[in-house]
Amino acid sequence: MTVTPGGKMNADDPLYQAALGAREKALALYSEFQVGAALQCEDGTMVTGCNIESSSYGLTICAERTALFKALSEGKRKFTRMTIVADTEELAAPCGACRQVLWDFAPHLQITVANLEGKRMSFSLRELLPHPFGNHLF
Ligand code: THU
Repeated sequence: MTVTPGGKMNADDPLYQAALGAREKALALYSEFQVGAALQCEDGTMVTGCNIESSSYGLTICAERTALFKALSEGKRKFTRMTIVADTEELAAPCGACRQVLWDFAPHLQITVANLEGKRMSFSLRELLPHPFGNHLF
């Protein structure tokens, strides 16, 4: 997989700042693993999300899908970038379920994962999910 570019997050990056802020709102009572996401919409607006856990663990929603569903429910339809922040030394990429849902609504998305120290990596969604279900680009 090509990973471009690595290195440090620009601390002033508005998506990074928004994802950091969203992470603070995470409701992660069971895992205590807080995640924040910020989604850049093509119309210039930004929508954030955090993970929200349920006592019925499987009903938990990840930060990425919270952000996407909030945006879709507000009528946004086109998305360019998403930044995801978690407190991990090794960077955490989106889970498989989120990759598929992001693919369904934002197949050309560029994704940056970062930690609290600003370490980051960027991928295209296509790199993260090379053989999606509902492969409408072929
Ligand atoms: N989580 C996310 O929010 N995004 C991911 O990509 C992976 C995991 C959340 C779900 C759960 O609340 C916690 O992190 C632990 O898995």
